Amino acid sequence: MARSKTIFACQNCGAQSPKWLGRCPECSQWNTYVEEVAEIEAKRAPLFEVPISTPKPLAEIAGEEGKHIPTGIAEFDRTLGGGYVPGGVTLLGGDPGIGKSTIIMQALARLSGTSDSILYISGEESAAQIKLRAERMDIGGNKLLVVTENCLERILEHVRKCKPTVLAIDSIQTMYTNDITSAPGTVSQVRESAAKLVTVCKSSAIAAFLIGHVTKDGSIAGPKVLEHMVDTVLYFEGERGHPYRILRTMKNRFGSTNEIGVFEMTGKGLVEVTNPSGLFLAERPHATPGSVVVTTLEGSRPVLLEIQALVAGSGLANPRRTSIGIETQRTSLLVAVLEKVVGVKLYDQDIFVNVAGGMRITEPASDLGVISAIHSSFLNRPVDGKAVLIGEVGLGGEIRAVMGIEARLKEAHKMGFTRAVVPKGNMKSPTPPKMEVVGCSNVEECLKLLS
Ligand code: TYD
Ligand code: MG
Repeated sequence: MARSKTIFACQNCGAQSPKWLGRCPECSQWNTYVEEVAEIEAKRAPLFEVPISTPKPLAEIAGEEGKHIPTGIAEFDRTLGGGYVPGGVTLLGGDPGIGKSTIIMQALARLSGTSDSILYISGEESAAQIKLRAERMDIGGNKLLVVTENCLERILEHVRKCKPTVLAIDSIQTMYTNDITSAPGTVSQVRESAAKLVTVCKSSAIAAFLIGHVTKDGSIAGPKVLEHMVDTVLYFEGERGHPYRILRTMKNRFGSTNEIGVFEMTGKGLVEVTNPSGLFLAERPHATPGSVVVTTLEGSRPVLLEIQALVAGSGLANPRRTSIGIETQRTSLLVAVLEKVVGVKLYDQDIFVNVAGGMRITEPASDLGVISAIHSSFLNRPVDGKAVLIGEVGLGGEIRAVMGIEARLKEAHKMGFTRAVVPKGNMKSPTPPKMEVVGCSNVEECLKLLS
């Protein structure tokens, strides 16, 4: 006999309560509690039989060799840490229409060339629609198995029959399990369905890709718990209106995080971008005040980016400070350093900072670039177009050493830059030939050098 129980679950973080709450005590969001009926079976039948394992000394446990299996799309493999792992579950998040289904279809189509049982389960599109998309991407004549299904029990039935090596669920929010009567997409449904899929994939060594939608505030819709359940979390980023798409690793139990894959959305699906620096610098204006080039390090990979600043007299009591692609607080901090240490008067100026191409900078090594861009725009004097700026700036205006200076300089040299301003603390590293590398210990020194 199944007994049913009503619970209230926060649709933001997944917290549960026996009664309705206006504000979630876990995540402090208002009006996120929704009534859900959890039907609990008196005794749930096991999903599959797992033999009881005995504890063993670490030294005696056999490691899994040859773990990563490449999909053949190098940029995608990079974010996965080299490829998919049998039994590994990957969550792929991103805004609607960013290209999640596209990248998964492309990866699976590549894989179906090497393996017979690759299964793509869609809860959103009919098989005919999927075929239409595949034809547009020139992967129509393919052995990839496709099925439209929303019910988890039936999906597990398909999995049992097809015995896939790789499985994709598009999307986890459209799936429901019969164990719970809540609507698909609610926290309990998403969590329960994902939990079942994860257990089945782990026990049968199936590599699974779960596609997840992202809410307005940027987290994967529904529960954060989803991120804890899976092995790898990838986020698809990109600005609307830009064709570039960045796949970012947020969590990876089988590889390094902070890796990125860069793609361009074309009429025939996503195309790998092997030289992102070239792409992001392609439309750089020449000898324009406020434009500087920095080298950021994304995982192991250096990428050159253009930072643009616009400083203009403001009529507002509270001048605007807007930054896109860089944390606003970081920009405010750098503006304060510029005012205090260099003595530039910015209190009556609107300041806008933008990273060209829709990229997001997350590391402080671009501080020096931001400061120089703002200074250059304020003075209306362009910065040397053949120079890159590298360095983290402290509150006293000191320039601190950064990681991976050699790789950054090599990339700049490759892209035709002949001059680099770097932290003095990094001057011991070898530098590329025919490149003038200058070490600076504080912001004033650097700005003097550039003007
Ligand atoms: P899709 O992968 O369906 O997005 P998601 O699954 O993340 O919601 O991508 C949809 C967008 O991509 C849509 O706006 C059309 C565009 N697109 C192309 O430009 N070229 C293509 O070849 C494909 C398949 C899609
Ligand atoms: Mg989709």
